[in-house]
Amino acid sequence: MTTEQQRTGEWGLAAAFDRAAPTYDAMVALSPGYHAQLRTAAELLVERLPRPEAGDRPVSVLDVGCGSGASTRALLDAWAGQAGTPGLLTVRGVDASQGMVLQARAKRWPMGVELLVADAVEHLESLPDASVDGVLAAYLLRNVPDRERLVREVARVLRPGGAVAIHDYSVVGNIRARVTWAAICHGVIIPLAALKRSDVPLHRYLYTSVRDFDSVGRICERLLLAGVVDLHHESYGGWQRDLVHTVVGSRP
Ligand SMILES: C[S@@+](CC[C@H](N)C(=O)[O-])C[C@H]1O[C@@H](n2cnc3c(N)ncnc32)[C@H](O)[C@@H]1O
Repeated sequence: MTTEQQRTGEWGLAAAFDRAAPTYDAMVALSPGYHAQLRTAAELLVERLPRPEAGDRPVSVLDVGCGSGASTRALLDAWAGQAGTPGLLTVRGVDASQGMVLQARAKRWPMGVELLVADAVEHLESLPDASVDGVLAAYLLRNVPDRERLVREVARVLRPGGAVAIHDYSVVGNIRARVTWAAICHGVIIPLAALKRSDVPLHRYLYTSVRDFDSVGRICERLLLAGVVDLHHESYGGWQRDLVHTVVGSRP
């Protein structure tokens, strides 16, 4: 499945995630570092959030493309790890796939966590200016046809001093990462999806969507153009070196 087919609507991404939802957690459990890297991405975001005290309004974070809740959990863990008072954080997870949201809702969550089925861009557009403190987009941006609009909306809804973290695969501009990505997808991920009876077209799309996605430089450029500043970028170790990236930035 090409990214172009996804963009032009010949194939429904949300429906594909609905089909993959029952096996999604099992598939990512086979991906070394998946949860640890999400946790690092969430920590990089949480470090930039305000630290409320008793009586203050809670800090609000949007987890766009929350899926089955792995990134939402990473946010809560990062908040707790940085000594944030649990009741003083609210997280709204938003995902276009009802199947993925149902998987997330089946888990135990503390008060202050809300999980909605909605398109990320449409949801952002429904929010007032400067109304949230943080946005996490883990493995989302690559999937959104109008990336410029998504990034612009994220910047618009952030309060001054708020922060965004974009976490995703990116291989453009790095030959070693591109070759590794092709080998891992064709040699491991797509065969495993077949073995686990997950959605094979979705995993083929995973390959092409990453192959065709923005470089890290382009992601940074998008954020800067939307008015997000103080950018910081990290990659990870192991086979995902230069392949999985987190970019964080703040709203002045
Ligand atoms: C690879 S999953 C990542 C889920 C989660 N953030 C995590 O880190 O495990 C990507 C998710 O983005 C969702 N998604 C894709 N396009 C979307 C859009 N335009 N609006 C909302 N969700 C979207 C998919 O339904 C899917 O659940």
